[in-house]
Amino acid sequence: MPKFDPDQLPYYNVRNARKVALVTGGNSGIGWYTVLHLYLHGFVVYVGGRNSSRVNQAIREIKCEAMKRERRLKPNKRHSLGQLHYLAVDLTDLSSVEKAVRKFKSMESTLDVLINNAGVMALPYCLTTDKFEVQLQTNYISHFLLTMRLLSCIKKCKGRVICVSSIGHNLAFKYFNLSQKFNYWPNMIFTWMRYAIAKTASIQFTKMLAIKHPDVLCLSVHPGIVMNTNLFSYWTRLPIVGMFFWIFFHFVGFFFGVSNEEGSLATLKSALSSGLNSEKDNGKYFTTGGAESKPSYVANNLDNAASTWIWTVHELRDRGFDI
Ligand SMILES: NC(=O)c1ccc[n+]([C@@H]2O[C@H](COP(=O)([O-])OP(=O)(O)OC[C@H]3O[C@@H](n4cnc5c(N)ncnc54)[C@H](OP(=O)(O)O)[C@@H]3O)[C@@H](O)[C@H]2O)c1
Repeated sequence: MPKFDPDQLPYYNVRNARKVALVTGGNSGIGWYTVLHLYLHGFVVYVGGRNSSRVNQAIREIKCEAMKRERRLKPNKRHSLGQLHYLAVDLTDLSSVEKAVRKFKSMESTLDVLINNAGVMALPYCLTTDKFEVQLQTNYISHFLLTMRLLSCIKKCKGRVICVSSIGHNLAFKYFNLSQKFNYWPNMIFTWMRYAIAKTASIQFTKMLAIKHPDVLCLSVHPGIVMNTNLFSYWTRLPIVGMFFWIFFHFVGFFFGVSNEEGSLATLKSALSSGLNSEKDNGKYFTTGGAESKPSYVANNLDNAASTWIWTVHELRDRGFDI
């Protein structure tokens, strides 16, 4: 299949068509390139992240890269760049999500594209301040709250919600209630189950959102196997064995992986392609490079998706966050 070309996506000019995007985890890896392309396409992009110096550094680098790419084009092929802003959000803390939403709403009334991209993978078992398992909250629950709180802004402009899931969701081979902790030894095995459950929930959430809010185009993606991001750093930074993990991950990446930029293509296509619309595409799942695909049976099953939705709403309500 020919590789999807992001240059074919529509370009906007902030002065006459203000298009707004919010990308969580936009300072690193796949998110970095997602932000770069949105900026090149004229979007006002809010880069959601937990560390101001990392995000501001990324914003400077993205601006530099965008200028370089624009300069390489013939003058009649150049486009006007968008804007980049930092939005503070720590997804391990629900009150930080609420704060980010308030800040966003004080600056913008509409949101054309929300990209729930941030994530962590294969961390040791640990609870967040909100008493959720860290992978579940970072990858899924906080994005659920963020999306629901921003839905009014998204609906105003018939916007889109893109959830970055993973092929790893297939490891959740049956439906597991999200209260199931999987805090067992050895972590090296059960941490993947926790990741898979979080990424399955993220697909289920997208499907339910598409059903409940058919005017919003909701899509989930697997970006590809992208070994040059920071997602693997817990393992590669382990003393002594970290080196072996580094070699192993790069070996896998060499044969099966794609670059960080290619990893952003599925998200970019979902976020911007004018060929996709909420009538025919809502709830779909795209994979590496933007090809349409099918998630696992568990992720696709609507009864499971409804259970996940209800569980999440109750858990959030118990913590004082009414949906
Ligand atoms: N790389 C792959 O092979 C692959 C495969 C399938 C799916 N994915 C998914 O793709 C997405 C992007 O991953 P990546 O590979 O680009 O990894 P990455 O380079 O580690 O990027 C992850 C981003 O998430 C942010 N983040 C993590 N915890 C956060 C928190 N508590 N609050 C706010 N932001 C937080 C990170 O911020 P900091 O810089 O502050 O840590 C970083 O910007 C993830 O959802 C991942 O699961 C990746």
